[in-house]
Amino acid sequence: MDYQEFARSQVVEIRDTVGDGKAISALSGGVDSSVATVMAHQAIGDQLETIFIDDGLMRQDEPAWVGQAFADLGIDVEVVDAADRFFGALKGLTDPEEKRKAFRDTFYTVFSEAVKGRDAQYLIQGTIAADILETKKGVKTQHNVLDQIGISARDGYGFTVIEPLKELYKPGVREVGRILEMPEALYQRMPFPGPGLATRCLGECTPERIEIVRRACKIVEEETEGVDKFQAFGVLLSDQATGVTEDGQRRFGDIIAVRCVDSEKAVHATATVLPWKTLMRIQDRIYEDIPSVTKVLYDLSPKPPSTIEYI
Ligand code: XMP
Repeated sequence: MDYQEFARSQVVEIRDTVGDGKAISALSGGVDSSVATVMAHQAIGDQLETIFIDDGLMRQDEPAWVGQAFADLGIDVEVVDAADRFFGALKGLTDPEEKRKAFRDTFYTVFSEAVKGRDAQYLIQGTIAADILETKKGVKTQHNVLDQIGISARDGYGFTVIEPLKELYKPGVREVGRILEMPEALYQRMPFPGPGLATRCLGECTPERIEIVRRACKIVEEETEGVDKFQAFGVLLSDQATGVTEDGQRRFGDIIAVRCVDSEKAVHATATVLPWKTLMRIQDRIYEDIPSVTKVLYDLSPKPPSTIEYI
């Protein structure tokens, strides 16, 4: 594919579609929505309003980092603090698809409240080909594929959805980011799922359990920084396992799985062959920083039969 031509024609198409109207972009800070937002900003400038919903399920310091990265590009980002709403919706849920549904419903409720009263007619979304493919195959419901899951953006929220990246896979999205002259830190970011750390927390997603996942993800990300990989993160399992304290007391503690995978398009993946030293450093830091943990595991599963995330 000629990505230069693709980027140019999509910018023109967004401009033609929106005309004198207004569009809203739901920015998550991930590669896809970041590239879609920059593309839309190049197309329609100040006719674009960019909203970032802080769902409380983000990586450490994410809202501030994203706000600054986009401010540097001349794009104002409005942050909506909705963490309590998401934790309220996730309370008591343990079934993966129920959690995804709760996330999705809360996202659209919060989002529609945030956009109520604005005179925008269009919604820019960073849906990519892998999202559509996996939702069609029923592997999982990706939260950002409205049509596929029977939510009508027009009827439900009054928007016409624009999905400029829906033909591309991740490498193509990154290439478009490069062509749009985005900073590498944005278009080369590791993929991060829409439902955030909830996809890495088996069992109930309470603020306390999500904080454990957040810390584990930070450690895994930092320790694998120079490693050539597609994604790396920590996961909190729902069960507990026996451990022992320094003074010989048995206790039940949390189990963290470390996930690091090689993949091209996220459709297939294999576990990265990490140096033993890296794995040992990760587990040392996890025990030190998260005292409730009694076991750290390295996940060897390829996709298929596994998936990359845990819900
Ligand atoms: P799985 O777990 O299905 O993940 O192997 C494939 C890729 O998609 C990301 N992912 C998501 N991205 N919304 C997204 O925008 C989602 O609901 C979602 N679920 C998984 C995942 O991080 C991986 O890169």
